[in-house]
Amino acid sequence: MNKIKNLPLTQQIETQKVLKKAISANRALANLNGVARIIPNSAILINSLVLQEAKDSSAIENIITTHDELYRANLDIESVTNEAKEVQNYKEALLRGFALVKDTKLLLKKHIVEIQGVLEKNDAGVRKQAGTNLKNAQTGEVIYTPPQDYETIQNLLTNLESYINEPNELDPLVNMAIIHHQFESIHPFYDGNGRTGRIINILYLILKDLLDIPVLYLSRYIITHKPDYYRLLQEVRTEDKWEEWILYMLDAVEQTSLETIELINNISELMIKTQDKISSELPKLYSKDLVEILFMHPYTKIEFLVDRLHITRKTASKYLSELENNGILKNIQIKNSKYFINVELFDLLRKGI
Ligand SMILES: Nc1ncnc2c1ncn2[C@@H]1O[C@H](COP(=O)(O)OP(=O)(O)O)[C@@H](O)[C@H]1O
Ligand SMILES: [Mg+2]
Repeated sequence: MNKIKNLPLTQQIETQKVLKKAISANRALANLNGVARIIPNSAILINSLVLQEAKDSSAIENIITTHDELYRANLDIESVTNEAKEVQNYKEALLRGFALVKDTKLLLKKHIVEIQGVLEKNDAGVRKQAGTNLKNAQTGEVIYTPPQDYETIQNLLTNLESYINEPNELDPLVNMAIIHHQFESIHPFYDGNGRTGRIINILYLILKDLLDIPVLYLSRYIITHKPDYYRLLQEVRTEDKWEEWILYMLDAVEQTSLETIELINNISELMIKTQDKISSELPKLYSKDLVEILFMHPYTKIEFLVDRLHITRKTASKYLSELENNGILKNIQIKNSKYFINVELFDLLRKGI
């Protein structure tokens, strides 16, 4: 078993290459944070992007859902697959974490345990029994054995908690990469470590004020560069390849920021287009709130309109059919309920980041 050292790292981390890459990654992230502010109601981006991330982060762990299942689960429709439920739990865990960080301005060990509990829907908490190993999925060969002893794990987590919350001299994005590696190496839970670790990444950026709301999701990048993700996690340990690992994570931040900026711009343009279309072609229904509802989820239902616009079911249903006749929405019937898809938004998110 390799012994994990407490943070901070003692070796030189901010090499020339790392510093150079950190500049462009930070620039892209700052632009993303600015662009996210153009969407009027932050719940719109939080809701739509978090589902995408929940799907992708779970897919890294081979929990595969289709978009259709995903949105069904988001609407609490029964008969969704277990995978879709897990994705739903991921979303809930991430949003809980966001609320905790916003309220307390801290990201504590107990928060991390709470987040993992929401994700896994159990309160097993930190590993108490030995036996957790990381294995090669194909060969079954043990690649890495994390610490087995409860007290060791707790001490390492306490050290990580200080590292996360106390200022240090390194660039926050470099720290995020270090923290992710350390967390995955401690591997404090029986399951859900990968997903919890990726939730910590985004919460750390919020904690350090690099992002106002959770909109930077690295899982799509990680999926497309998955062999490198696993290889580098391991090679930091076996060959001390910190520089490569950190460059990998910085590139993930930079590329994902650029893609997300484009996606948000597209959503914003679509909102304006939809707003113009409704106000000119269906002026009787038009309100800013209505447009927001249509973008809050890629699927809308009658209740959303009733609740937010304070109108009767009958009126809400009339609004939705008019929007459907106009081509903005498309209705689908699932069991006894009708759902209305915002067709173009759905397409954007599916292609999206
Ligand atoms: N060699 C390794 N060293 C450290 N962490 C690793 C290694 N290989 C994989 N991991 C991490 O372990 C995660 C899988 O752990 P697991 O507890 O099953 O999480 P989840 O249930 O979210 O899949 C991967 O996503 C990755 O972050
Ligand atoms: Mg797992």
